[in-house]
Amino acid sequence: MASLRTSYILVLWLSFALTFLLHGCLSVEIDREGLPWTGLNTTDWETGVLPPLDQMWELNDFQIAAKNFLAARWYASYRTAALDQVTYQANMNIWQKIRLNGYTFRDVSDVNLNTTILGYNFSLPFFIAPAAYAGHTNESAELSLAIAAGKLGALYAPSIESTKTLEEIAAVGLPNQTMFHQEYVWSNRTLLIEQLKRIEHAGYKAIFLTVDNTGVNGIRVQAIRETQELDSDTGHSASFTLEALAEIRNLTTLPIVPKGIKTAADAKTCLDLGFPAIYVSNHGGRVLDGVPTSVEILLDIRKQYPEVFENMEVYADGGVRSANHVIALLALGARAVGLGRSPIWANIYGEEGVEKMLTLLQAELQTSLQLMGEANVQNVVGNLSYINTKQVEAEYFGIN
Ligand SMILES: Cc1cc2nc3c(=O)[nH]c(=O)nc-3n(C[C@H](O)[C@H](O)[C@H](O)COP(=O)(O)O)c2cc1C
Ligand SMILES: *[C@@H]1O[C@H](CO)[C@@H](O)[C@H](O)[C@H]1NC(C)=O
Ligand SMILES: *[C@@H]1O[C@H](CO)[C@@H](O)[C@H](O)[C@H]1NC(C)=O
Ligand SMILES: *[C@@H]1O[C@H](CO)[C@@H](O)[C@H](O)[C@H]1NC(C)=O
Ligand SMILES: *[C@@H]1O[C@H](CO)[C@@H](O)[C@H](O)[C@H]1NC(C)=O
Ligand SMILES: *[C@@H]1O[C@H](CO)[C@@H](O)[C@H](O)[C@H]1NC(C)=O
Ligand SMILES: *[C@@H]1O[C@H](CO)[C@@H](O)[C@H](O)[C@H]1NC(C)=O
Ligand SMILES: *[C@@H]1O[C@H](CO)[C@@H](O)[C@H](O)[C@H]1NC(C)=O
Ligand SMILES: *[C@@H]1O[C@H](CO)[C@@H](O)[C@H](O)[C@H]1NC(C)=O
Repeated sequence: MASLRTSYILVLWLSFALTFLLHGCLSVEIDREGLPWTGLNTTDWETGVLPPLDQMWELNDFQIAAKNFLAARWYASYRTAALDQVTYQANMNIWQKIRLNGYTFRDVSDVNLNTTILGYNFSLPFFIAPAAYAGHTNESAELSLAIAAGKLGALYAPSIESTKTLEEIAAVGLPNQTMFHQEYVWSNRTLLIEQLKRIEHAGYKAIFLTVDNTGVNGIRVQAIRETQELDSDTGHSASFTLEALAEIRNLTTLPIVPKGIKTAADAKTCLDLGFPAIYVSNHGGRVLDGVPTSVEILLDIRKQYPEVFENMEVYADGGVRSANHVIALLALGARAVGLGRSPIWANIYGEEGVEKMLTLLQAELQTSLQLMGEANVQNVVGNLSYINTKQVEAEYFGIN
């Protein structure tokens, strides 16, 4: 009897001690949302305070830091995706099904990451994708994104829904810097014409015309919980047909790149219409939940309309968090690869953070290419011998 009571008390005491210990140690417990674990220690972080930048060693670290730093409402607004986030999770996890082929016995002493996008020179094959309202991360907003991209020689294409004006962003560009600009198909035609003129006048060299949320946006439940507003109206034209697309091309002299291509059929249509490039994307899972990842879309285009890759440039994005993800998309035929959320997360540190994020990714890319036996990143573009996607293909196309 007595020994039973003693052990009961002992168990109670132990569980108290354990709870206390765990709480004492993990003063900040951050749900990592299934991100790969690489040892980031958040024990000493204080909620709402910017963690030391020197603890950031890979792109996912910036997301954890942003989650710790930003108000819940703003973190949710950037992190959210549509409905059950099936596509968002697929974007994040597809990489586990892809294998890289590395070759030995090659000279990789001089690695070249230079590339061209629509004929313009860039020092990197990845770029900062358009993302609305950077101002909730840092007061410098899009300016830090533009400055960091310029220093690294990377492309930046600001969103038409930016915190800063497109003229302010253009003004911080370096003399040797090329920027593109994103545009939406507003139902207000006057606004559309006016903005296209401003973009051209400010010196942007091409338009990423986002065509995947005509009329409405996806219902982004995670963000709606914070705003308490079920409103997916965008002000974008809901009657955006092929005729309307043809008409838009007459409104600007800049090359137009349709962004948000998510089926092989639409890719083929853009080819037939003579666009110089397409941007394959599911908008970071924020529009139609359930659509495929860029890996799967690119595979499907390769299968159905391989001529797309021979006759136009292809860019792609979605879930890219390391150089190996960049390499996979390049090998599948993307000439350049976009980063959506990572620059946003890095921007909590302003320009310094974005520059560090890009530099880390650059170092990863240089390292992976060397380890794969390829000194020139352009040789990876469309070269399937660098990847094995059979697992993805088996699941996506079925066994036949
Ligand atoms: C907060 C946020 C805002 C975005 N705003 C835009 C936008 O204004 N225009 C656009 O074409 N795409 C927008 N996107 C989509 C990105 O350009 C890109 O396609 C996507 O984020 C890539 O996925 P990733 O975040 O996993 O890198 C946005 C994405 C996020 C996360
Ligand atoms: C994390 O950091 C804390 C405080 O610096 C340290 O006590 C703890 O051992 C670290 N945890 C791990 C797993 O390294
Ligand atoms: C890459 O381009 C830069 C100019 O932007 C040039 O200085 C450099 O030599 C190029 N690198 C290679 C390996 O060609
Ligand atoms: C782009 O790079 C190529 C090859 O490095 C070079 O010959 C050309 O002059 C560059 N163009 C511009 C505009 O800098
Ligand atoms: C532009 O110049 C900066 C240095 O001023 C350099 O870091 C960057 O790589 C250059 N951009 C390109 C595309 O060569
Ligand atoms: C359409 O856009 C123009 C230019 O920005 C603006 O002046 C006008 O008020 C807008 N019209 C409507 C109906 O919102
Ligand atoms: C675009 O402009 C061309 C040449 O000016 C004209 O032939 C064509 O009809 C226009 N298309 C549309 C849809 O406005
Ligand atoms: C914003 O970025 C700047 C650098 O551009 C940095 O000095 C500053 O600390 C950042 N602001 C906040 C609130 O973190
Ligand atoms: C593709 O890469 C392989 C492996 O490096 C190489 O042997 C082959 O020549 C490349 N093919 C093309 C078309 O560049």
